[in-house]
Amino acid sequence: MEIRALRPSDGRSSFQSGDEALDRFFHRYAGQNQFRHHIGVTYVVVDTRRVLGFATVAPRQLEIDELPERARKKLPRYPVPVLGLARLAVDKSAQRMGIGGHLLRFVFRLAAKMADDVGCFGLVVDAKPGAVEFYATYGFTPFESLEGQSEARPQPTAMWLPIQAIRAASDPAH
Ligand SMILES: CC(C)(COP(=O)(O)OP(=O)(O)OC[C@H]1O[C@@H](n2cnc3c(N)ncnc32)[C@H](O)[C@@H]1OP(=O)(O)O)[C@@H](O)C(=O)NCCC(=O)NCCS
Repeated sequence: MEIRALRPSDGRSSFQSGDEALDRFFHRYAGQNQFRHHIGVTYVVVDTRRVLGFATVAPRQLEIDELPERARKKLPRYPVPVLGLARLAVDKSAQRMGIGGHLLRFVFRLAAKMADDVGCFGLVVDAKPGAVEFYATYGFTPFESLEGQSEARPQPTAMWLPIQAIRAASDPAH
């Protein structure tokens, strides 16, 4: 399964993940964010004709106070660099076939490379309510308890995976 950076020539308009906001982002903004503004890069899984899934990443920083207490120990008091997984979606026709997991493992490798090249404390995602379990499968944990969430208007759950866990998952020996 090929994963590569989005190209201007990739057809995006027929992609449908079932999540309107994610689809709108991919149709309208992924290209300009990458090619004009350089504020994020979208990686796509393509078969011969079309995009089956995408993951958009951009560097972020975390305030130390946002981290769970055990992760703060011995860190400097200034914000730390992380990789943000800004968007992840798979076309409805190809969901539950391993593509989301494949994209996520690719993003793990980007985070490990970022750690080697410029520094990266971990991977951060604002998980939509239906995707929290998906991320938990890969070891992501929420920053804060879910207390106070409204069932009527659930908010995304900020989750993270430390770089040590990412390296362990990417290491062929594990
Ligand atoms: C969430 C999403 C990206 C998962 O991609 P996918 O290609 O369907 O998932 P995969 O087939 O790679 O599944 C990987 C594992 O996660 C599990 N999984 C997949 N979707 C899940 C979900 N929504 N909840 C819980 N577990 C899920 C699978 O069972 C699989 O586990 P297994 O390997 O033990 O069988 C995809 O379903 C999607 O695009 N959904 C709509 C948009 C969305 O919610 N995006 C996330 C925004 S934060």
